[in-house]
Amino acid sequence: MNRRILFIFILIMAVFGCTQETSRKSALLQYDAEIDGIIQQMTLEEKVDMLHGKFMFTSAGVERLGVADFKYADGPFGIREELQPKSWAPLGLKTDSATFFPTGSALAATWSQEMAYKYGTGMAREARLRGKDMILGPAINIQRIPTGGRTYEYLSEDPFLSSRLSVGYTKGVQDNGAAVCLKHFALNNQENNRGRVNVIVGERAMREIYLPPFQAAVEEADAFGVMAAYNKVNGWWCAENDMLLNKILREEWGFAGPVISDWGGTHSTVNSVVNGLNVEMPDQRFMGKALLDSVKAGVVSEEVINQRVREILRVRFAIKPIPEEEANKEITSQPPQQKIAYEVASKSIVLLKNKNILPLNLSEQPVIAVIGDNADRTMGLGGVGAGVKTLYEVTPLEGLKNKIGDKAELIVVQGYEGVEGGFGRRFGRRSPEELAKEAHEKEIKAQKLANEALDVAAKADIVLFIGGDNRWVETEGSDRRDIMLPSGQDELIKKLAEVNPNIVTVLVSGGPNDLNVVNQFSKALLISWFNGTEGGNALADILVGNISPGGRLPFTLPVKLEDSPAYALGNYPQGRGGRDIFMNLVDETNPGLNAEKQEQDTSRYSDPNTAYYSEESMVGYRWFDTKDLPVMYPFGYGLTYTTFEYSSLTTNKEKYGKNDVISIDVVLKNTGSVAADEVVQVYIHRINPSVEWPKKELKAFSRETVGAGESKTVTLEIPVKNLRYWNETIQDWDYDLCDLELLAGASVEDIKLTKKISLK
Ligand code: BGC
Repeated sequence: MNRRILFIFILIMAVFGCTQETSRKSALLQYDAEIDGIIQQMTLEEKVDMLHGKFMFTSAGVERLGVADFKYADGPFGIREELQPKSWAPLGLKTDSATFFPTGSALAATWSQEMAYKYGTGMAREARLRGKDMILGPAINIQRIPTGGRTYEYLSEDPFLSSRLSVGYTKGVQDNGAAVCLKHFALNNQENNRGRVNVIVGERAMREIYLPPFQAAVEEADAFGVMAAYNKVNGWWCAENDMLLNKILREEWGFAGPVISDWGGTHSTVNSVVNGLNVEMPDQRFMGKALLDSVKAGVVSEEVINQRVREILRVRFAIKPIPEEEANKEITSQPPQQKIAYEVASKSIVLLKNKNILPLNLSEQPVIAVIGDNADRTMGLGGVGAGVKTLYEVTPLEGLKNKIGDKAELIVVQGYEGVEGGFGRRFGRRSPEELAKEAHEKEIKAQKLANEALDVAAKADIVLFIGGDNRWVETEGSDRRDIMLPSGQDELIKKLAEVNPNIVTVLVSGGPNDLNVVNQFSKALLISWFNGTEGGNALADILVGNISPGGRLPFTLPVKLEDSPAYALGNYPQGRGGRDIFMNLVDETNPGLNAEKQEQDTSRYSDPNTAYYSEESMVGYRWFDTKDLPVMYPFGYGLTYTTFEYSSLTTNKEKYGKNDVISIDVVLKNTGSVAADEVVQVYIHRINPSVEWPKKELKAFSRETVGAGESKTVTLEIPVKNLRYWNETIQDWDYDLCDLELLAGASVEDIKLTKKISLK
């Protein structure tokens, strides 16, 4: 290039920025002229007042100018009860009982964007009844480690499945008058050390695995809000990460709304506001007086402040405020939302194994021993973090009673003692003597419960074991140590099988469990998730055969935890550096909203914990499949009460250009005797690529209802641009024009049909 051309090139780049900038226009931009009029009338103090928490879940408007406060509803699986303005204590309202929607992994197990949309509509309606503007959800981080404390809240290990659902959820919410706040941006894939950990991730893995659910919700659904994660990414706290917030989120994806910090997740004044943070929640340690002083001292320009205020006001204009007196008038949970909760739950349950025992045969009034602490345990609350004060929650046992009536005799025993928490017990110190005494008492109790269970199992026709984790086992703020079933459930099941081989096991868990024992000793095995207000009814409908199970695994169930990528490579766990960041915030001995005292405690910011994501894109099934590692049950797997036959995979072309859309037809036939849903999944395998790829990647899926004996042609589409990779050299998406195989099947391991095509 001669000098003149080079100069012109640099000039063009300087004027138009890098090639990454978006051409998409957010609907939020339409209010800017009016907003600028308001900003002109605001004092600097009023502006800065908008940039931090006013109450625990409120940030300030400007009353003088008719700008209402901004009200957040903690989510993502139900609207959290009303709390005191400046503490975590409940307000004790009679009207704030909400619908508990199935948690993230359950929603993902539906493999249905339509369900995610309905879910969003339900969440938004309840948020509006409560006068809320923005829902703190959906939670869409990738499930990187099977032990992740919030796996139950997150969607999937796969970016494409997560993206479809995050788009559905976001549209559902925003079409119904509330805003979403996508969380936690970004790479908050573990709970241990989340407030300290520095995630070291390559750009390709970041772009292709971890960011897509956020990108899709911003670009396709125009998400109005984003919550910055607690952790660092490549050396920078997420709440002051110029690369993530300014460059990627705003410049590239065209995000026009505010970024709010996670609670207590702000770390600086100048870097935060300049690098893209709008609101420090819930207090004002950095973005209150310190910010005001920084502007006055000329360290932060008022233009930056105006921009941050503008981004907040855009959402204030888009979302109509609800006056205090109109909120909380009727009970939050209403029948239409409860119906959505049922629908999602009934489509989410995954049948992993069935040796001719399900659906339950009730024709001869069997005796069913219902055993397990989770049979009658509610899951709306428990553990650290947002839960739902539910109006009601149908437990598995209640569901069975509702659906079975007198068609069987149910004998119910607890079987084992479920893990119980409570902040005092969980985090308080006990003496060695106290611990020993407690352990002894526990053992005696466990023995007694097991004996009772064996007694009833021996007399029953069928044992229905309802176990799994609970909300104290899977919790925000800490990851699980392992994925074993807690409270000695494996031992108990082994013993039960000796007295009665007809065991149907239901796991009420939000994340993966080690299934080696339970799979061997159960004739049927299901996962029924933390499945919300109507979870028990949905489960019972499946067990008795009113509906056929249609959920599919949103994550891989490994044979053993150590096989999974971050563990196998020694990238996780990294060891604990102290107490959880959020627990620091809620602990009464910690000042919480009191900025001054917190200021003195800098110890927790100095821990240099680092998480190396050296497995790169080999996350979840990509790892197991590429390395040919056996798994217990693969990603995408799930049985029904019928059988499906796949035939004839055809495409609209053989060779595809960059702007083409690959259209795939698959003929699907229900060859059994009951109607059921099948999730047709299309993976791609690159035959002669020029860069490295996992062996298979999910690129399309469709959940189909097919009547007994019926056939249908299912059409799935893959835009060629969705097959691009992030080219680190050119810092842009790039095409790998090669031959590839389209693989249609019922899970990543159950490929039924293939077809070769090429990209040109
Ligand atoms: C969680 C967020 C949540 C916030 C407010 C934080 O600890 O990470 O997901 O919205 O608390 O409860």
